[in-house]
Amino acid sequence: MKYQYPIHPWEITEKVFRPENLRESESVFALGNGFIGMRGNLEEGEATGAETVQGTFLNGVFDSEPIVYGETAYGYAKNHETICNVMDAKNLLILVDEEALDMGTSCVVSHSRTLDLRDGVLRRHIMWTTESGATVDVQLERLVSLTRQNLAATRLRLRCLAEGCLVSLRSELAPAVISEGDPNDPRGATGKDRRLVTEKLAAEGGRIAMQQRTKNTGFIINCAAEHRSELPSETKADAGKAVWTATTMLDVGEELSLEKSICYTASRMGEPDQWDAALRGAADAPTFDELAKEQRAYLDAFWEEAGLEIQGDDALLQGLRFNLFHLLQSVGRDGRRNIAAKGLTGEGYEGHTFWDTEAYILPVFLYTQPELARKLLEQRYSILPKARQRARVMGHDKGALFPWRTIDGEECSAYFPAGTAQYHIDGDIAHAVWEYYTVTEDLDFLARCGAEILAETARLYYDLGFFSEEKAGRFVLNCVTGPDEYNVMVNNNVYTNSVAEENFRSAAAALTLLREQRPADWRRLRTELALEAEEPEDWLRAAEKMYYPAARDGIYPQDDGFMDRKPWPLDSIPAEKHPLLMHYHGLTIYRHRICKQADLILAMTQYGERYTLEEKKKNFVFYDGITTHDSSLSMAVFSILANEIGERALAYDYFMSSARLDLDDMHRNTKDGLHMANMAGTWNCVTKGFGGMRCREGRLSFAPVCPPQWQGYGFRVQFRGRLIQIRCTAAGAEYRLLRGEPLTIESYGEPVELR
Ligand code: BGC
Repeated sequence: MKYQYPIHPWEITEKVFRPENLRESESVFALGNGFIGMRGNLEEGEATGAETVQGTFLNGVFDSEPIVYGETAYGYAKNHETICNVMDAKNLLILVDEEALDMGTSCVVSHSRTLDLRDGVLRRHIMWTTESGATVDVQLERLVSLTRQNLAATRLRLRCLAEGCLVSLRSELAPAVISEGDPNDPRGATGKDRRLVTEKLAAEGGRIAMQQRTKNTGFIINCAAEHRSELPSETKADAGKAVWTATTMLDVGEELSLEKSICYTASRMGEPDQWDAALRGAADAPTFDELAKEQRAYLDAFWEEAGLEIQGDDALLQGLRFNLFHLLQSVGRDGRRNIAAKGLTGEGYEGHTFWDTEAYILPVFLYTQPELARKLLEQRYSILPKARQRARVMGHDKGALFPWRTIDGEECSAYFPAGTAQYHIDGDIAHAVWEYYTVTEDLDFLARCGAEILAETARLYYDLGFFSEEKAGRFVLNCVTGPDEYNVMVNNNVYTNSVAEENFRSAAAALTLLREQRPADWRRLRTELALEAEEPEDWLRAAEKMYYPAARDGIYPQDDGFMDRKPWPLDSIPAEKHPLLMHYHGLTIYRHRICKQADLILAMTQYGERYTLEEKKKNFVFYDGITTHDSSLSMAVFSILANEIGERALAYDYFMSSARLDLDDMHRNTKDGLHMANMAGTWNCVTKGFGGMRCREGRLSFAPVCPPQWQGYGFRVQFRGRLIQIRCTAAGAEYRLLRGEPLTIESYGEPVELR
């Protein structure tokens, strides 16, 4: 195995600058805090001979444009929302004796970049000899504050080691550079010119500031950067830019330093512009050291709560921590912002949120930082009105249909067979709401938002399906696409029917709970939703009668017509033809019995009680043989089920193929941003896979196994106000209650009292 970065349990370090790897490393070294996201771009921006993807994003800040269809039809998604690449404040040009630092051409004696996962600071260290003969030692640091949503900071320390020299620095706020997307890759950015309109510029003292407005959505974005240094400096604002410059002579042994405090604010059309808040935010920002100290304390607490350990494989531990760290950096924290498929690390998938949030990412936060899980669900609740409107467009008189891909709630998928048709998104959200309630017992949330989501999604499924005479009165859901995007618009996709069934039951249960425990909320909801008395009964009847395609010879078809499709043996497809979506027309793919990603396997993992162990084993082998894993969301799920059925070697292999997927750029598209769902999937593999963690009907259970490759591993989960530590070695599992009231859990099927 070739690792891209040296193994270290807490650090990601690049020791040699590799121009061919710049775009990937910019994703790997990205920093963020759920609001601000900065790609790991070099301060000087470009390096001669290397391709770069410049990026600074604000979560939830997007522009929108009408989708241009050559041929259109009723109900197609109308607009495309795209996350904005906003003005960049992390830049700093360094000139020594008028030679600009350029990693492609400068004589760089040594270089390193390190992302420290313990303090969340990105550090760069360069030793550089100029053509004039001066040698300087340059240290650059950057952080995006995890404790203060609007703040980021950079620091430069430059020491002259040989030959006195003239040092000039230049920092600017200018409209963002637009990166070119790959027009042939549907997973990337469109690379379209999404100009933001500059509204204001300011330059005064050590401060520069800029205000921009999105062309069509009217977001106002402000950025102010306060430069703190002893250097004689100048600022000016003209020609569309605000610029700060400083020049000084340095003698041998002398050092200069500069701190740049950056504040971003954003407001929506109609809200007060937050220009002054940005100026004040930058001016009053704590020093770099103070921010770094807060950051460290925040992350210490985060790592302590997560308690993730692997003994005997530091490369793996590095990968897992890297994944958790990036999830934390990308997740929205205010109930107005979600988490994009690529987080805040790149423009891939245009900054859209998918089912990735609920099916993969939310469980990680639910068990480690439950309040962040709640915020994600609150964001979904905030777009419920749009989901209702969408349901009407889609021909449903009742209920809400959440968008397949979106930033702000509007359906943005221009390709409905693999987009809007993925009706399982409603069930994924419903599943997450119910799981959140089960794990936290947060009745307030259920009363405020959760029950309403559950009722509206249940209504949607009830309207979508019907009791079919053809299927002996069973409830069927036709013409939907399941998670597996290589089998579209099918009847009775097992996963979709499973989440719908759960949704029917959880919606009815939530309403009963409210009626019994929060009668006032129940009455309010009943009125607001114009809920008819028989609706919950109808849902329960549909759940009871839910249809699932019958197994033949023990194999469950993923949907009604799955077994009728033409076989396409995986070993007949040349390696260079993967991923199939890049090399075959959709119709070619859809006619074949081949899978992009885990679908039935996911149903068997999530609703395991419905299948026997033998069935799981048989179906695992079958679907393993026909799944391409062309989606990064696939392997983690296979690993989890492999563990459950005792296929230890496969569980380990699948897990190892996803644990460092981005760190080692295994899918060769890390440049577009990191794969958040896969990253979360690896935490799920440790806890639900190797740890055998399940939460069914309010009971938390574990069945930990330790792969022979490790000496041991451990993790911590929060459950109903408790913090529980699980450790496992070859000798067995050990549980400790670190916080909260005594609790009975299950270990390998036996009750264990934790106190
Ligand atoms: C997968 C989807 C996923 C999306 C965004 C696609 O390739 O098939 O399941 O939601 O990527 O990550």
